[in-house]
Amino acid sequence: MLKLVVLISGGGSNLRALLEAAHHDSYPARVVAVGADREADGLEHAEHFGVPTFTVPFSSFDDRASWGDELLAQIRQWQPDLVVLSGFMRLLPVGVVDALSPHLINTHPAYLPEFPGAHGVRDAIAAGVDQTGASVIVVDAGVDSGPILAQRRIPVLPGDDESSLHDRIKIVERELLVQTVREIADGTTDLEETRPA
Ligand code: GAR
Repeated sequence: MLKLVVLISGGGSNLRALLEAAHHDSYPARVVAVGADREADGLEHAEHFGVPTFTVPFSSFDDRASWGDELLAQIRQWQPDLVVLSGFMRLLPVGVVDALSPHLINTHPAYLPEFPGAHGVRDAIAAGVDQTGASVIVVDAGVDSGPILAQRRIPVLPGDDESSLHDRIKIVERELLVQTVREIADGTTDLEETRPA
């Protein structure tokens, strides 16, 4: 059984999808803890499923490195096989990425390498494209630049704004994330093979 720690910053709908999937005996992964960098609303999903939570507020630390050290210590307490960034809106220090990658994945609301960064949906709308997408990637030292594990195209519809488009993207993201974690857990996807040569 693959043990997951999921990190969030916001509402946690992708986390919720993972918790619901992992609730079924046939799903080969379990969420052992959920962490956040702030008082994220999505922590309530973990509490609903009886999953422990921890919060390491970025604002409580003098610098990114010491925040990252504490976050890594909290994550390691749970001895996860995989760490999932699920709407975690803070860049991890390189030391944390090095310690966890490639067993560290992220979901992103665009068809990478298109529209990386914190505003993937807004940037797609601003660019006037007629399709964008959703991606699940391995986290590396860059910004949304790691190996792509799964992705799917999503049309931008006439009249879409950031909110309506993001809502449709998230439906696909949830499917991709649940399926990707399943494939990592059952051995269909070998994250070690994504390590740079
Ligand atoms: C998701 O769309 C996720 O891809 C995005 O935040 C949203 C979180 O939604 N993450 C990023 O943009 C990271 N660059 P959720 O809190 O409802 O799961």
